[in-house]
Amino acid sequence: MKGKFITFEGIDGAGKSSHVDWLAERLRQRGLTVQVTREPGGTALGEKLRDLLLNQSMHLETETLLMFAARREHLAQVIEPALARGEWVVCDRFTDATHAYQGGGRGLERSKLQALEHWVHEHLQPNLTLLFDLPLEVARERIAVASRDLDRFEQERADFHERVRHAYLERAHGHPERMRVIDANNTLDNIRKRLEEIIATI
Ligand code: TYD
Repeated sequence: MKGKFITFEGIDGAGKSSHVDWLAERLRQRGLTVQVTREPGGTALGEKLRDLLLNQSMHLETETLLMFAARREHLAQVIEPALARGEWVVCDRFTDATHAYQGGGRGLERSKLQALEHWVHEHLQPNLTLLFDLPLEVARERIAVASRDLDRFEQERADFHERVRHAYLERAHGHPERMRVIDANNTLDNIRKRLEEIIATI
């Protein structure tokens, strides 16, 4: 039996991370073995790359290549073996984030992103991608009240995040078979109800 691969996506401040553990727990209650992981990160090397990616300025292509380098390691060490064992993998961000941030936000050509995606995981796509969507102003307020040091992406201007949001929505539109948009400007209860409905179908 093969496991299933679920990814969480959204602009910074969409609140997706708080739902990752909750969803994993719900799946475990169904008797499934679930691995929770994140990108960039998920392996010892990936977490080192994450630290660089979030804090060190670099050329856009370097940034993109490092995202995919971390992903390659993550797939080889964590995601593919877990799925092969029949486990479920719940991952906080994956390749849709690279299309949205490096592509939409920073303007890297789509052909380069597609080539890297093809190279790194030609035969693997998430079974389900949950896109947490909300207006930018609400997301920015949430980040502001969190009052912690902001990383390189969170420090970007509003127009960057607007482009990221737009790129995510466009991707959801282009991949209706696996992507579901969740209205994240909603109560915790309503969001969880919607998540329950969605996972009941997979
Ligand atoms: P995230 O884990 O959501 O940040 P936080 O810990 O603050 O909730 O994601 C880290 C950042 O990395 C986020 O701003 C988006 C960015 N990112 C990319 O730009 N490209 C990618 O491919 C990935 C996976 C993340």
